[in-house]
Amino acid sequence: MAFTHRPLNAGIGAEVLGLRIDGPIAEKTAQDLKTLWLDVGIVLFRGVGTSPEALIELSKCFGELEQHPLEKFRMPGYPDLILLTNQNGPVGPVYEYDGVSTYGRIPWHTDLAFTTTPNAGALLRMVQKTATGGQTGWVDTAAAYDDLGPETKYRIQHLEACYHFTTDLADMRFNNPGGKRVVTRRTDYPSYPPVAHPLVWTHPDTGRKILNVSTLNIQSILGLPGVESDALIQQLIDHTLQPKYQYIHNWENNDIMLWDNRRTMHSASGHPMDQIRIVQRSTIRGSVSMGRII
Ligand code: SIN
Repeated sequence: MAFTHRPLNAGIGAEVLGLRIDGPIAEKTAQDLKTLWLDVGIVLFRGVGTSPEALIELSKCFGELEQHPLEKFRMPGYPDLILLTNQNGPVGPVYEYDGVSTYGRIPWHTDLAFTTTPNAGALLRMVQKTATGGQTGWVDTAAAYDDLGPETKYRIQHLEACYHFTTDLADMRFNNPGGKRVVTRRTDYPSYPPVAHPLVWTHPDTGRKILNVSTLNIQSILGLPGVESDALIQQLIDHTLQPKYQYIHNWENNDIMLWDNRRTMHSASGHPMDQIRIVQRSTIRGSVSMGRII
């Protein structure tokens, strides 16, 4: 075994110890890493490699890489990586909270929940952390499902929710963090039709049941009257976002966090706009369609 691991200080996740990436990763090690990822949901790698090449080599252990649909987000020279930074000014929305212009705030969500095929996972490598803010959180939506009472499990077992694409917090129907938008709304994304997903996903690799309530995108439950639909969505979100299911990561430079996008939601706290944060990200393509276009 080229590495060992220990639990993160949370109900979910593990930290990998003893792994170095200074060349190709052996097939057996790659398989062991993939097994661990599916088993624990999120994985921290600390100081395993400090280059984009190391991030790509590690990412390939978990599946095929998916490029960002917009070329301007792809990292120059490394199209399989996304560069997330405010180094050259804001690329995403800036919101003001308590008088502080905040960049990079993304409420709890599943990546690509607004498409039929969410990606399988992703990896973030912190290149330059900020002095304040800038945490990333994950929540275990499989554990949240497991803990639901039998009546709720029965009630939601065949329900579907409608998800919309949004890049703007003002469009969130649930858990909207408020704030004043400082930079104008973006319009350069492709348009995506609304999709329906089961409220309860079955994980394509592990078979575990997952509570699927991506707060950024969820709109309504199909077939339920509005008031009932809103109340049920809010109940499920409140249940899922309990601290006991969360892990919040305080970054060190060169940390890499890997997550299973089918089994978790994640969120970014954002950071003061006048501090520079640089993150590289890879995305593991999803291969299984879990919803349908409405
Ligand atoms: C992401 O959701 O991919 C970004 C998270 C972060 O910037 O912390």
